[in-house]
Amino acid sequence: MCGIVGYIGPRETAKVLIDGLKRLEYRGYDSAGIAVFHRGKIEIRRKEGKLTKLEELIGGETFDGNVGIGHTRWATHGRPSDENAHPHKAGKVAVVHNGIIENYLSLKEILKSKGHVFTSETDTEIISHLIDEFVQEGYSSLEAVKIALEKIKGSYALGILFEGDEECLIAARKESPLVIGLGKGEYFIASDVPPILPYTRDFIFMEDGEVALLSSKEVKVFDAKGDEVSKEPKRVNWSPLMAEKGGYKHFMLKEIFEQPRAVIDTIRGRLSEEKGDAVLEDVDFDPTFLKKIRRIFLIACGTSYHAALVGKFLIEEFCRIPVEADIGSEFRYRDPIIGENDLLVTISQSGETADTLAALREAKRKGAKALAICNVVESSLAREADHVIYTHAGPEIGVASTKTFATQLVILFLLALRIGRELGLLSKEEGKVLIEELVRVPHLMEEMLKASNQVAKIARKYLHARDFLYLGRGINYPIALEGALKLKEISYVHAEGYPAGEMKHGPIALIDREMPIVVLATKNDVYEKVISNIEEVKAREGKVIALASPSDREVAKKVDDVIFIPETLPSLTPILLTIPLQLLAYYMADFKGTDVDQPRNLAKSVTVE
Ligand code: M6R
Repeated sequence: MCGIVGYIGPRETAKVLIDGLKRLEYRGYDSAGIAVFHRGKIEIRRKEGKLTKLEELIGGETFDGNVGIGHTRWATHGRPSDENAHPHKAGKVAVVHNGIIENYLSLKEILKSKGHVFTSETDTEIISHLIDEFVQEGYSSLEAVKIALEKIKGSYALGILFEGDEECLIAARKESPLVIGLGKGEYFIASDVPPILPYTRDFIFMEDGEVALLSSKEVKVFDAKGDEVSKEPKRVNWSPLMAEKGGYKHFMLKEIFEQPRAVIDTIRGRLSEEKGDAVLEDVDFDPTFLKKIRRIFLIACGTSYHAALVGKFLIEEFCRIPVEADIGSEFRYRDPIIGENDLLVTISQSGETADTLAALREAKRKGAKALAICNVVESSLAREADHVIYTHAGPEIGVASTKTFATQLVILFLLALRIGRELGLLSKEEGKVLIEELVRVPHLMEEMLKASNQVAKIARKYLHARDFLYLGRGINYPIALEGALKLKEISYVHAEGYPAGEMKHGPIALIDREMPIVVLATKNDVYEKVISNIEEVKAREGKVIALASPSDREVAKKVDDVIFIPETLPSLTPILLTIPLQLLAYYMADFKGTDVDQPRNLAKSVTVE
């Protein structure tokens, strides 16, 4: 939550910061602000609301300094307002912050007693006061930051400027992501890679406890003990174009249409058709460990949790290992029974979701092996897990997860195949069939995307419905949950996902002629039962939108609207079913005029508990 950027170098600083914030706005959009030097002084411009409000405030104003910091906010402490917007400045010190300072109230009292006057309700403001306190005591900028950080409890990614020193930008990280971009004669800091991609692909990924001192000539990084450390730069192979809208009205629509490409990139180099196996070289699993696995825990939040639920079906089917799928925020608070011969798999687009990260730490503490499935390279989950498998979806900017979900399902399919083959539960021939079908999936996804106009018409037809039900069974049930989540989060229409068999235990009371019910009715071993559920809805005059197998005339006759899903294995059908549900949510939201890419109250990565 919240995004920070910083720049030191010869370019027009305010422009670099604003452009960077545009690419970080998915992290929060309650207010935005920048601090830049002009005629030797730090000038702050900040404004409640989206970045466009800040741009309007700045107008044609120019600044002559070569260093600056910027922030886009997702409010935690203090409502969205101009006063609570970052940067916060005390004395000579200006700060932008992503994270939460837990002991800010006690520190605030101490600082107040020393004469500091606060102007915001934020936890962040105490950081600028605290550092300024030590600067006033005569410490160097770097020393003042280090001493202040020792006193702070909580999480932070920080960008800090000092009035009077235009050759100094300090960055610090603890439990909130922060990267440093290495340009030629210029350096960048940001909460994530995309804002820096137009300038360089060489990055330093900061570790917890590290503090970096950036000047226009060099970057020095210090570890938690204060010793200078040498950091190996890493090259990121995302291109800046990947983080552009590319002619689409919204990032979400672009990302929905990118899914076939994202799946191809995710399976590339990871299939051995000859061996009928997945090649997960990035996971150097010890085969003896695989043979000893007692249970697998799939832990995630939101959309990634729905991928976990699908993963449970895949792994149990291919590997016959019991799997528990759990929500990150629930897992660690139930004193989970997990240990040495268990495998914990965390699934996360950002790799920074606080609840998922906490679950991983808890499982590791109890002796389990941890594998992370992540999209963001070098994210916290990726670094803290014993093994990592990256989804190669490319940057996902829309707050609603789309292409990363499809690629998570693909990785879970590959993981289940790999373990199933290793355990001898899948034969080479069975593995080959699975691979053959997986390779067809991107093409089938393209086919599915051709239904977008039809889905748009359905969205228009049901635009005024206030509630939706989504029903699915078996491996399609998590997709019902995902469809409902997509609709809720971007169109603000109430929606519930249910296992179809549960309908008669309660939700059936909701059904009337106003209520659209989306039924996932593709052919599999529970198909007949889903047909009965459709009959039950129709008997109560509910409106049914069915997602059915190609040319399933029986379903088509019974329902109000039908979208045909290309034929594939039941284990791969969830990937295809997701597409029309994403499109339905997208068009409903777009027709309603909501802010599709930045829905209200949400942030792309939830780095607070
Ligand atoms: O980055 P993560 O995959 O860990 O994020 C988890 C959820 O916050 C995320 O999936 C969220 O539910 C999305 N807004 C769903 O579209």
